[in-house]
Amino acid sequence: MKSQVHTMRPTRVKKGSVKKRQSAAATHVAIIGAGRGGTALLEIFASDPLVEIVGIAEVNPKAPGLTLARRLKVPVICDYRKLLALEQVDLIIDVTGDSAVGMVLQDFHRMGVAVIGGASAKFMWQLIEARIRATAEIEKTLNKYQSLYRLYVKEAGAAVTEERTRIACEIHDGLVQNLAGMNFKLDLCQELVRKKPKTCQTTLREAKAQLKLAIQEARQVIFNLRPLHYDRLDLIPALTNYLRSYETQYHIKTEFAVSGDETTLFPRTKIFLFRIVQEALSNVQKHAKADRVAVQLAIGREVLTVTITDNGIGFDVEAVSRDPEKWDHFGVRGIVERARLVGGEARIESKRGRGTKVVIKVPLGKKEVEPNGTD
Ligand SMILES: Nc1ncnc2c1ncn2[C@@H]1O[C@H](COP(=O)(O)OP(=O)(O)OP(=O)(O)O)[C@@H](O)[C@H]1O
Ligand SMILES: [Mg+2]
Repeated sequence: MKSQVHTMRPTRVKKGSVKKRQSAAATHVAIIGAGRGGTALLEIFASDPLVEIVGIAEVNPKAPGLTLARRLKVPVICDYRKLLALEQVDLIIDVTGDSAVGMVLQDFHRMGVAVIGGASAKFMWQLIEARIRATAEIEKTLNKYQSLYRLYVKEAGAAVTEERTRIACEIHDGLVQNLAGMNFKLDLCQELVRKKPKTCQTTLREAKAQLKLAIQEARQVIFNLRPLHYDRLDLIPALTNYLRSYETQYHIKTEFAVSGDETTLFPRTKIFLFRIVQEALSNVQKHAKADRVAVQLAIGREVLTVTITDNGIGFDVEAVSRDPEKWDHFGVRGIVERARLVGGEARIESKRGRGTKVVIKVPLGKKEVEPNGTD
């Protein structure tokens, strides 16, 4: 606050104006200066039931604290001397850093009114600002962990149902179809065995081939049923099998390209990547209306990249992340969180009508170090 030039229309502060709380027990505070210091004071006092802000003085109409003051319905004036004249004021805090204001306040003496200015005021608002920053940081961390918690709760519950449905579909679409086909062929053989023995032989060969297929299917179902142990998961075979059954189940063509050596990866990274690919593929099947999806896994010396690309309808990533109806949809958030938990990052690129690409990059340097590779 350099000079008292009236550059804006002052909000009139009536003497003794107490808009927010008419509590006699409250300390009535007047603030001079709506810069960083004034903003910090407003923020902290606004939530304190024992403080009533009777007014804030500022000459700069663009000062950062003014918007907040108006939102809080704190009277704003240009001339700080009007604040000194207020009837109901217990404490005046000068955070302008302006020596002219400081000098006026030095000569200001009124019974029951305390004045804080200069270095003391600066120290005070800096402490307050630090506290606000710390609180915001704590809230941010808390929110993150709350959404992580919801993610885990969701996984624990929904994943079981989802997995059961998936296994049932897998058995139905693969194994049961093959067995039914075999049954039909054996019935046919029964009829043909006397009349047309040669045709019967061919049908029997076909039935045998189908039986082989059924055995393979059964093996695959068992493979997919195995719990994914951190210390034993082989990522590439797991993904190969997963993609194979995904393709049969959902009739979405899959491509899988791998480069590099997975033995360099930590078990936890492998399991997290597996889950990420699972979720991305589940989204393709649920939302994308795609008929193709490609998964690329490139394990380099320093960085690992996984890309899942579909040729579906795409979506507006920003809009979806802001959609209040999807607050409890955790798939994409789970992908981002999991990537972060292994020291990497996930990026979702999508445009309506242009398909979707999920890219996960994990540095394979020091960041990924974890105790014994277990969780
Ligand atoms: N590959 C994709 N193609 C088109 N839209 C997608 C794709 N992936 C995600 N979306 C859109 O993004 C939204 C958020 O996805 P997300 O995985 O977070 O939630 P969800 O799949 O709806 O539910 P959840 O995964 O929690 O069961 C989806 O509802 C969908 O609208
Ligand atoms: Mg999803």
